[in-house]
Amino acid sequence: MDVLRWIDPPDGPALLLLDQTRLPGEETVLVCRDVPAIVAAIKDLAVRGAPLLGIAAGYGVALAAALGEDVAAAARTLAGARPTAVNLARGAERVLRAHEEGRSALSEAHAIAAEEAEASARMATHGLELVPDGGRVLTHCNTGALAAGGDGTALGVVLAAHRAGRLKMLWVDETRPLLQGARLTAYEAARHGMPHTLLPDGAAASLFAAGEVDLVVLGADRIARDGSVANKVGTYSLAVLARHHGVPFVVVAPTSTVDLTARTGADIPIELRDPGEVTTIAGQPTAPLGSPVYNPAFDVTPGELVTAIVTERGVISPVNEGTLAALGDRLR
Ligand code: MRU
Repeated sequence: MDVLRWIDPPDGPALLLLDQTRLPGEETVLVCRDVPAIVAAIKDLAVRGAPLLGIAAGYGVALAAALGEDVAAAARTLAGARPTAVNLARGAERVLRAHEEGRSALSEAHAIAAEEAEASARMATHGLELVPDGGRVLTHCNTGALAAGGDGTALGVVLAAHRAGRLKMLWVDETRPLLQGARLTAYEAARHGMPHTLLPDGAAASLFAAGEVDLVVLGADRIARDGSVANKVGTYSLAVLARHHGVPFVVVAPTSTVDLTARTGADIPIELRDPGEVTTIAGQPTAPLGSPVYNPAFDVTPGELVTAIVTERGVISPVNEGTLAALGDRLR
């Protein structure tokens, strides 16, 4: 089933989205016929993951153009649907610019999708070199086809390692509170026949202590100029653990996720989400009514804890302002 697809039947265009909130139990498709439907899908995490958010936002702007709506207003609304993944605003703005310059908004949206698919393939090739033979790899959140427009960022690298016969084990953090690891990464890993084991986030430390992790590979929502990496909350703790145990910590993200206008990690806006995501599970209360909640969707890992960043252009290591700046002017 397609994760995301643009259709244009006689009764009007629509963006089809695999509803990721229903996985792994149900594979259902959301039919988005207007921009508010796409914005709602983004806010609800029916569509998610930095590169895929950029693609969805691009198609959202194209949909506004096709419907003869206020395209600039649509781009603003889409860009503001979630704050942390820079791809979202970047995708919306890029398609808006094409439209304003008299180019086809839809062709530009298709171009973003094609570029991300190509980036996935290139990152897999570059990242594969960092996976040791018989590697036991730990990942967090979901960075596969459900997130990327291609085979994935970090999970694309893991898939390449699996196909090359190099993967001994993929340790999958469940990724509280919305369980992108359990619901989505375990689902993708199973479909690919990867050897994998799911663990509660809090169990990662004991795996490191037991010497069971050779490599951490995960994605990013925004990478600042100094190499700080915003990614799903829980990433920073894994980076600290990896440093303590001498395990390489590798971030895989396309250049569309690098934001050189964010000078440091402190410049990256971190999304705070609904307390209900922490105080309930499947609608059932799991905390006393009215418990105060801290529910950031992301955290920031300093570049000094990151062994390498893999982009579609190659491997950046060490990670610092100088090596990031070298990506420079050619960033989209
Ligand atoms: O809140 P989500 O599910 O959109 O968060 C996704 C992540 O944190 C991913 O690790 C990141 O977007 C990279 S996806 C290729």
